[in-house]
Amino acid sequence: MPTARQSRAGVINCDLGMSKPFDIELERLTSQASYSEIARGVAAGQRGTFFLETFGCQMNDHDSEKVAGLLLSRGYQQVETPEAASLILYNTCSIREKAAQKVFSRLGEYREKQNEGKVIGVLGCVAQQEGEEIFERAPWVSLVCGSASYRKLPDMLTQLEAGNQRVTGLDTDTDATFETEVTRRDNPWRAYLTIIEGCDKACSYCVVPFTRGPERSRGSDSILKEVRQLAELGYSEVQLLGQTVNSYADPTPRKMRFSELLLAVADVQGVRRVRFTTSHPSDFTPDIVEAIEEQPKICDHVHLPVQSGSTRVLRAMQRTYSREVYLEKIAMMRDANRPIAITTDIIVGFPGETEFEFEETLSLLDEVQYDNLFSFKYSPRPNTPSLSMSDSMSEEEKGRRLAVLQDRQREIQSAKNARLVGKRFEVLVSGKSRRENQWSGYTTSHRMINFASQERELLGTYVQVRVTGAGPNSLLGDHAV
Ligand code: SAH
Ligand code: SF4
Ligand code: F3S
Repeated sequence: MPTARQSRAGVINCDLGMSKPFDIELERLTSQASYSEIARGVAAGQRGTFFLETFGCQMNDHDSEKVAGLLLSRGYQQVETPEAASLILYNTCSIREKAAQKVFSRLGEYREKQNEGKVIGVLGCVAQQEGEEIFERAPWVSLVCGSASYRKLPDMLTQLEAGNQRVTGLDTDTDATFETEVTRRDNPWRAYLTIIEGCDKACSYCVVPFTRGPERSRGSDSILKEVRQLAELGYSEVQLLGQTVNSYADPTPRKMRFSELLLAVADVQGVRRVRFTTSHPSDFTPDIVEAIEEQPKICDHVHLPVQSGSTRVLRAMQRTYSREVYLEKIAMMRDANRPIAITTDIIVGFPGETEFEFEETLSLLDEVQYDNLFSFKYSPRPNTPSLSMSDSMSEEEKGRRLAVLQDRQREIQSAKNARLVGKRFEVLVSGKSRRENQWSGYTTSHRMINFASQERELLGTYVQVRVTGAGPNSLLGDHAV
């Protein structure tokens, strides 16, 4: 699922001032023995300061947590502005043209910083995709590093200190980024955990197979070991990540299925919620729904991107399922003994999409009644098969289709959320408003609730909230006792 920074429909907006208690987090992490460099006496800030800005999906967010941990463990100190930093790192997204363009305009803003002696580095999907080209377009950049090479970052920085002008890390198929013993997680209650890297699906519009390389799964024993450590550190919600998380293929002799892994993670003492994203419809099998039915700690929310409601367009997208097969997956969830919230991603204006085919997508929304969706105008991307298809639809028409789709979904969400008024939900409190007595958090079905409570401290706790009002993107409520 993309993050809120990307433009999309149905984003759950929250106007609360979120507090991000970094102090608690750092305290916990420095208590981890694995901060060996700190133990060896590398004081915070001794090596310099870094500013890290992140764009893209949750996998990128989590990669930045790994990068930050790695640098902190080597004696760097994180700062809030590029001005205060000796090292400026930009973790980039390349999924649509606009995202990639933003990278170069942001790099333009950093041009002068090099003269001040700062090191500027590009990480993530644009780094992997553009490689050394970045040095041509922005000669003031001296470090380019893709997501499979983050382990090498400290060495790359040492090379720069030693006088090298430019360093690159452009592996695509190592498992090095799975090991996360120094990860500095941004959220002290919810821990992201990468269980599968890369993607083998080859959707015709998508850059991810190029930017993140082939699919590699992490061993179930290593995943479960880390979950146990996280639970001991106080994390109660674990979110398993992968571009196709449910294509997970355990490389150990145990050969755990994805559904077994979900159950095993939920069994770890201290874990109260297990989430997973993103699921690919072709690998979405009945045992996953059975695991959700069997184990209430596995959240009642599945993000199942459909991309289009037209089988012809799905074939052109190389999505490996038809509308009918997708609807069978939805029926499987609707038949479950526990209601399951379903969200999706949709691309409008794929090359050759007719008005009729677009309407098939609208009718799919009516049929499925999604709880939320993220929608995008098709954007042609380098190296992808759909680049050679004629993308003749005007931006205006793509924009019109996007607006029609978003309006339709807004109505669906308003009606669905209105039916929740009067109901009670368990909420993990993750935000505190500047306004007094106002808090926010998510239900297990990933609905955001803003609610009132007289309690003095609720962050990180689980509370019961009664819904008193509903909008298309969030709910309002009262702390129920
Ligand atoms: N792995 C996930 C999606 C990752 S990218 C999956 O298979 O569903 C997140 C979303 O960005 C995709 O679901 C798709 O809707 C959108 N997207 C990807 N490439 C795009 C492109 N070239 N143009 C517009 N949207 C795109
Ligand atoms: Fe891209 Fe398709 Fe892989 Fe998702 S499944 S990351 S859309 S290629
Ligand atoms: Fe994620 Fe963007 Fe890369 S969506 S995988 S950061 S291209």
